[in-house]
Amino acid sequence: MKKNVGFIGWRGMVGSVLLKRMIEENDITDINLIFFSTSNFGNQAPTINNISYGILKNAYDIDLLMNLDIIITCQGSKYTNDIYFKLKKLDWKGYWIDASSVLRMKSDVIIVLDPVNYNIIIDSINKGIKTFVGGNCTVSLMLMALGGLFQKNLIEWISVSTYQAASGSGSGHMVELLSQMGVLYNSVSTDLKNPFCSVLDMERTVANIIKTDHFPVSKFSVPLATSLIPWIDISMSNGQTKEEWKGEVETNKILGSKKIIPIDGICVRIGSLRCHSQSFTIKLKKNISIIDVKTILKNHNTWVSVVENNYEDTINNLNPLKVSGTLNILVGRIKKMTIGNDYLSVFSVGDQLLWGAAEPLRRILLILKKTI
Ligand code: HSE
Repeated sequence: MKKNVGFIGWRGMVGSVLLKRMIEENDITDINLIFFSTSNFGNQAPTINNISYGILKNAYDIDLLMNLDIIITCQGSKYTNDIYFKLKKLDWKGYWIDASSVLRMKSDVIIVLDPVNYNIIIDSINKGIKTFVGGNCTVSLMLMALGGLFQKNLIEWISVSTYQAASGSGSGHMVELLSQMGVLYNSVSTDLKNPFCSVLDMERTVANIIKTDHFPVSKFSVPLATSLIPWIDISMSNGQTKEEWKGEVETNKILGSKKIIPIDGICVRIGSLRCHSQSFTIKLKKNISIIDVKTILKNHNTWVSVVENNYEDTINNLNPLKVSGTLNILVGRIKKMTIGNDYLSVFSVGDQLLWGAAEPLRRILLILKKTI
């Protein structure tokens, strides 16, 4: 029998990337997919490959939700908080797949990233766990990049600097970044055509425009174009941001670590659109050769590939634009550090909306379809 799968939040950014992937991979033909809406129910659901999905159902209708085998939500934290606990209280027997972070650290919830924790996922399904959530994007992208070193238990600790795209904050933030770029360009577009105009004058013009009240900063609160923001998410009591805190706790939860692998660093928002980069200082447990490191990294999963540590390959291939819209995870700048032979530097890039958000959810749905 086809499983009844309810999809909530399919019009948002992560939800629409997820739906596109499900259609591309033909994941929706062997399920009974039901589209829900929090605001637009009663109107037409999408038509996919000439098949109409009927009328949008009310995402707050508990009776309807109770009849679902699987719920996938990309609707965000508020929806999860509003609905998940109500369903659980009513002893709903279905499976909950969630893009939001609300449930991640609960003991009866698995953070899914099957190329890394497939065995943990299968074990948990067999034990009756029914809630599966996607991890933080920087965490999932780090694990996809460095999975081989984690799997072989070669990492003592990691210090990381991130370079996170606007998409991590939401679609409105991407729009704001582009608007900021547009305003800045317009302010110097005539000067740019004048070979006698000094770049320092243009820099002044741009700096002054940024300070005006009409410069668009309602989403980020401060300018991002021509700048950066070394703070992501709320503050924790120890000086970390929540994004930095997640690096260690979520990674170790995904890995099922018996002994915590320390991971910390500084998370920075930069002006890329949808791909996160990260620069890692890795303390290895032992001295292993660069050739072995590269082999271990690239053998871990199908999507990761190594960019050689030279100028041409690095500037042409190891950047956000190169992976945008793809499932590729690139790792490069792999070198031993002058600090010592068991210190390694690695730079990675991956698409925040694919492996960072939608893809692990698409894949847990496939696993559940086969297993339950
Ligand atoms: N928190 C991440 C960011 C996004 O702000 O980039 C998704 O995990």
